[in-house]
Amino acid sequence: MAMMRRKLVAGNWKMNGLVKDRDFPSALSDALDAEPRCDVLLCPPVTLLPLMSSHKPDWLQLGAQDCAPQASGAHTGDVSAAMLADLGCTHVIVGHSERRTDHRETNEVVKAKAQAALEVGLTPILCVGETLEERESGEAESVVVTQLLASLPRCAADKIVIAYEPVWAIGTGRTATPEDAQAMHAAIRAAWPGDDRDALRVVYGGSMNPGNADSLLNQPCIDGGLVGGASLKPQDFARIIQSAR
Ligand code: 13P
Repeated sequence: MAMMRRKLVAGNWKMNGLVKDRDFPSALSDALDAEPRCDVLLCPPVTLLPLMSSHKPDWLQLGAQDCAPQASGAHTGDVSAAMLADLGCTHVIVGHSERRTDHRETNEVVKAKAQAALEVGLTPILCVGETLEERESGEAESVVVTQLLASLPRCAADKIVIAYEPVWAIGTGRTATPEDAQAMHAAIRAAWPGDDRDALRVVYGGSMNPGNADSLLNQPCIDGGLVGGASLKPQDFARIIQSAR
């Protein structure tokens, strides 16, 4: 029998947000009619984490957008997973396509970051996704599964979240169809190298908004969303959260 996985709706603010935005958690609470029926996570820039962690509702979890692969030491400018856990984070995004591109992060580096997160009890949200060229040439599934297996640390399925984020859908207003996303999520679950795959949460990211969230989030293998632009607006993020049942 299929396991019921609790959905996760996560906001990734990327490089947006200043001290004046510190009260976003209360604005989000006000925008929701009721307590969410899914897990809700916000990943603001690291500068806002200490400000938000002291003023947030209990149902809102906080996460970071990246962490160092090393535990500590002489790595100027980097933030360790332990520092994030120390601030009250529960999750950290690793291997986002923007980091893979901007910082040339390889699968090996992403795997080391996910491993560093697991070692301090953080849940990594490991991102994978194909480019437009790869989708158009019919290679999307093999590219994504290869990327997944090369960046995945050894862990139990309930200790990690996989985010399927097709690169061509990020910040473009173009989304995968619910059917294409469902098929990719099923392929990711099938590729999971363990017999606990029913517990694995695979979330979708790429131009999710209040208008398309319902059809995406209610596919059987889509266990939530990783929301960029729409998570910056409390009303829009609240509507996406309310679409997850
Ligand atoms: P958008 O929702 O802005 O397309 O961003 C998606 C994303 O990259 C989330 O990590």
